[in-house]
Amino acid sequence: SLIHCIPNPQDGSPTLEILQQAVIVLNPEGTHIDILIKQYAPVTLEGLWEHPELDLTILGPGEFMIPGFVDTHNHAAQWAMRGLGQNLHILDWLEQITFPQEAKFSDPVYAERVYSLCVDGFLRQGITTASYYGSVHGEATKILANLCLAKGQRVFVGKCNMTRNSPDSYRDASVEESLRVTRECIDHIRSIDPKGELVKHILTPRFAISCTAETLDGLGKIAKENPDLPIQTHFNEAEQEIHATKELFPEFGGSEADLYEHFGLLGPRTILAHCCHMTEYEMKRIKELECGVAHCPVSNMTVGGGFMAAPVREFMRRGIKVGLGTDSGGGFSSSILDAMRQAMIASHAREKLSEGKDKGLSIAEVFYLATLGGAEVCGLGEKIGNFEMGKEFDALVIGTVNNPGIMTPVQDDDDLRTAFDKWVMTGDDRNIKKVFVRGRLVKSEGTLGAARVEF
Ligand code: GUN
Ligand code: FE
Repeated sequence: SLIHCIPNPQDGSPTLEILQQAVIVLNPEGTHIDILIKQYAPVTLEGLWEHPELDLTILGPGEFMIPGFVDTHNHAAQWAMRGLGQNLHILDWLEQITFPQEAKFSDPVYAERVYSLCVDGFLRQGITTASYYGSVHGEATKILANLCLAKGQRVFVGKCNMTRNSPDSYRDASVEESLRVTRECIDHIRSIDPKGELVKHILTPRFAISCTAETLDGLGKIAKENPDLPIQTHFNEAEQEIHATKELFPEFGGSEADLYEHFGLLGPRTILAHCCHMTEYEMKRIKELECGVAHCPVSNMTVGGGFMAAPVREFMRRGIKVGLGTDSGGGFSSSILDAMRQAMIASHAREKLSEGKDKGLSIAEVFYLATLGGAEVCGLGEKIGNFEMGKEFDALVIGTVNNPGIMTPVQDDDDLRTAFDKWVMTGDDRNIKKVFVRGRLVKSEGTLGAARVEF
């Protein structure tokens, strides 16, 4: 059984497709979907048994398959600080909690240890594609890229550019150094994955407050020279951040869209995290420029985000690309299921605020955001996000019986949709039995990571 989102044949809107009896046949290399049989007769399967050369996998009772999850925004360098600094506003949280933590990645041994736990941790949550912010450090960023490739996660990895407004211990030494290290990371990632099949560098100005005009300008030039590279930044996240940005760049009159566009950083390959506080003008501009939005409801409502999540229904109505981000680090949870649930909760607050105009999001809609929506935000909508023929095989096997967790028990008379809803709302990574990226089985049982702790 398969569950995925497809564009509605009538109007293109995302629709849940539930295939009770389906068969996926991979290409001979085992990386892509060659054939998708949406409804088989028993005789079809019997036919397959007669081909011992085929490597046949049949899902067990209570199991179904979904596309891998896409996390459009998270911070690998914040893996070891999740859950800290709750209630702090963004600039205070960065200064008190985040910068001291990220500074530790100057040590490649520390980076290797924590990034390894991070990638294992995201894979076991079923996050087959992630857009990572690294730290400012070149060595650590290369280590993260190497680990993702070795463990088989599809990722964007960004060396974070920061040339002002953080302590000396955690900043690029100069604009030239910031750009030089960025180019070095781009070259390294191209050398380990020349076709960019799994790992790509993503240009990552942390946000305008961390970057001088020269830094943003230099990154805009690198973006122009490298049209294959995606770009990410934090955008209109919180009032505290918006005010500080306006003071630093008064010439843009408070429009972050105009600011980042001026430096050549907005376009179809740009992922804008948050977008909580958007004027009519800013919404129009990001739609015209075809930027994607990484909606991060967990961090928006707990840390940094000014305790207001983005108007996702409004974005969807306007045809702006939207996906989900755990914003792991700022978001206390690295689980995309938590992001889906929180997106529903936040959308209900938005429904109330808009006096019913912006309807809350359904389970099917948040599932779309976590799969195909996220793929489109990452510019990977042709490659992943659902089980269409020709796409790469990124998939999760979900087990709903004998579940060891806290998931609502599945009853004998439950249908597939009911089991799916129960898992989305109450299940967790313990129900994720297998994780495939590009056909490779990557789910890692991992360890919790030994640490010598003295309190
Ligand atoms: N703005 C700049 N840096 C960050 C960060 O690390 N997390 C969040 N949520 N917002 C930011
Ligand atoms: Fe973030």
